[in-house]
Parts: sequence; C-alpha cells; structure tokens
Amino acid sequence: MNIKGKHFRTIWLAADGWSVEVIDQTKLPHRFETANLKSVEDAARAIKTMQVRGAPLIGVTAAYGLCMALRADPSDISLESEIRFLAEQRPTAVNLRWALDEMRKAVQNLPYEGRVSAAYARAARMADDDVEVCRRIGEHGLAIIKDIAARKRPGERVNVLTHCNAGWIACVDWGTATAPIYMAHDAGIPVHVWVDETRPRNQGAALTAYELGSHGVPHTIIVDNAGGHLMQHGKVDLCIVGTDRVTSNGDVANKIGTYLKALAAKDNNVPFYVALPHTTIDWTMDDGMAIEIEERGQDEVLKMPGRLPDGSVVTVEIAAPGSPAGNPAFDVTPARLVTGLITERGVAPSTKAGLEKLYPERA
Ligand code: MRU
Repeated sequence: MNIKGKHFRTIWLAADGWSVEVIDQTKLPHRFETANLKSVEDAARAIKTMQVRGAPLIGVTAAYGLCMALRADPSDISLESEIRFLAEQRPTAVNLRWALDEMRKAVQNLPYEGRVSAAYARAARMADDDVEVCRRIGEHGLAIIKDIAARKRPGERVNVLTHCNAGWIACVDWGTATAPIYMAHDAGIPVHVWVDETRPRNQGAALTAYELGSHGVPHTIIVDNAGGHLMQHGKVDLCIVGTDRVTSNGDVANKIGTYLKALAAKDNNVPFYVALPHTTIDWTMDDGMAIEIEERGQDEVLKMPGRLPDGSVVTVEIAAPGSPAGNPAFDVTPARLVTGLITERGVAPSTKAGLEKLYPERA
C-alpha cells in the first residue's frame, strides 16, 4: 500500500540480497522508520518486541529469520533449534508455526549447500502468496460490503467496525480485515470505519487509523468501550476483524476485546465477520478454549507512549502507582457468535463443515 505516494510492503529483502528490511511498527504513527534485520536474533527480537506484529507478518518475518540462521549454519541441528527459538517468540498466532513448518519442509531433504537459496526462495514465495491471498480475501469481503451498500440510499455510507490492526501493516500488503474496506473505497462505495483504539497497545489508534488515513479511507477512532453503544444506535452495519488463530470448529482467537464486540454484535443483529488466510487455521485444534493466550507485560497497561507538542515521543505512567496489572493479549470468540469467515476461497460459516467445504483437502 502507499505511504505518501510510495508503494511499500511491510517486509522486503535489503539491497545486500540477504538481510531484511521491515517497517518498524513500534515507531508508528509518529515516525515512519524501517529496521534492518541481519540475523535470526534480530528477527526474533523484532517479533518479540512487536517491531513486526500481526499473524501473517509474524510468519513471514520468522521465515526470513530462519533463512539468516541457515546462512550462519545450515545443519539439521541448527534448523531444528532455530525453528524452536523463533516459534517461542509469540505463542498465539498460529501463522508463526505454519511458516516455520513450511520452511522446514522446503529445506530438510536438501544437502546443506542447497539449503540457503531454497530457504530464501520459499520465504519470498510466502510473502508473495500472502499478498495474493489477502487480495482475494478483499474480493470476497467486497461482495459483502456491496450487498449492504445496495440496501442503502444512494451515497449513504457503510459503517464498518474493526478491532486491533488486521490491515496491510499486519500482513505483507492489503491486510485481511482491511482488504475489503480498501477495495470498497477504491470502487467508490462510501465506506466509513469505526476504529477501536485497542488498548493496551493501541494498534487501532496507532496503526489501523494510520493506514486508513494514508489511503484516504474515512474513519473515526473510538474507545474500545464505544462499539456496543454505536451498534445499539444503528451506527454499525458490520464488523470485520482479523484473527491470530481459527480452530477447525470455527472458534476465533484475536486481540483482547474481540469477544466483547462479537457479543454486542449478536445482541444487536450486526453481522460479525472474521477475515483470515488459510495460514491462520489450526487444523490440529477443535476447541478455541485450548489456544494458548499470550500474557504480556504489565507496563503495556500501566504506561502509555505519546507525542509531546515539541515532537518528542515519551512514555508516561497512567495508573495509580503500585497497582498491579493483568494483560492477556488475546481472547477467543466462540464460533456461534461469528456470522462468517472471509477467506481467500470464499465466505464460510464458522463451523467445521463450513471450513472443510472450503478446504476439502483438510477434511
Ligand atoms: O498482538 P498483535 O498486535 O500481533 O495482535 C494482532 C491481532 O490481533 C490481529 O488482529 C491479527 O493478528 C490478525 S492480523 C491480519
């Protein structure tokens, strides 16, 4: 997508042909900076500290991290230990495990001298595939938005509510939840997005708003608790969120607070869609309650970064000194609250049968 008229992906190979450039998400929205990752340790740190985040992008970053690990040591022992090391950086998004499994498959049967080039080729294809998959998610989601727009008066806007950042910044390009929105906007449908700020790290206010604004999509940042009220007053036509893991029965793990939005949507008959690539489906699990939920540090809750009028970015304390904080990063929305799963193969009911119909090879 474009930043000030220049096209960017979130991750790309540097000019040296082996290290990796990423957009440093910890600096957004105040500064647009890139970070150069030169080793598997750099890639792991970028994932852990959320310089890169969002399920698909975490996976692609880990894939390139493994490429750099294999440059240093292509042996079987290194392959397995670096996969373990990368996989443990963030536990909930299943794309991380998927990407590392794909990388293992791509190199494990090759002689050591052929592994590095095969790994880079697989990582590059993974990035390209993610772009194409998100584009197709966009097309399927666009049909839903068009349908809603067709039932409105000419020019009346379609209001979409989204949570966290499941945009192009969380993927390689397009995004999952945002791809239908970008396509609707580009097709001339008057779409407007309610952007949940998404405490504690404010991915909505900092990242989703940044990317929607950069693309010219009308949007309004709201506090996380406002969604239910807006739905009660008919101000939300549909919700579209992303996900970090969908179990084979259709349960959805996503950023903390998603579940409450789904409950409010159900109570107000607002359609609640989840957009996802096939890489986010965990076919090994059939119950979302079994998903490991990342518990993050207290400082994310107790402190907040922001920009001062002089342009400097500082972090301030916002809570009563000495009070402890809990910080579960994700929650699970039961399949029964999900209207549909928007995938690259079409829209499925959030059920085992629905997913298996779209992915018969996994049935
Ligand atoms: O903790 P984060 O910011 O990595 O959480 C991200 C989300 O919850 C996204 O909505 C999800 O990964 C989908 S990204 C297309």
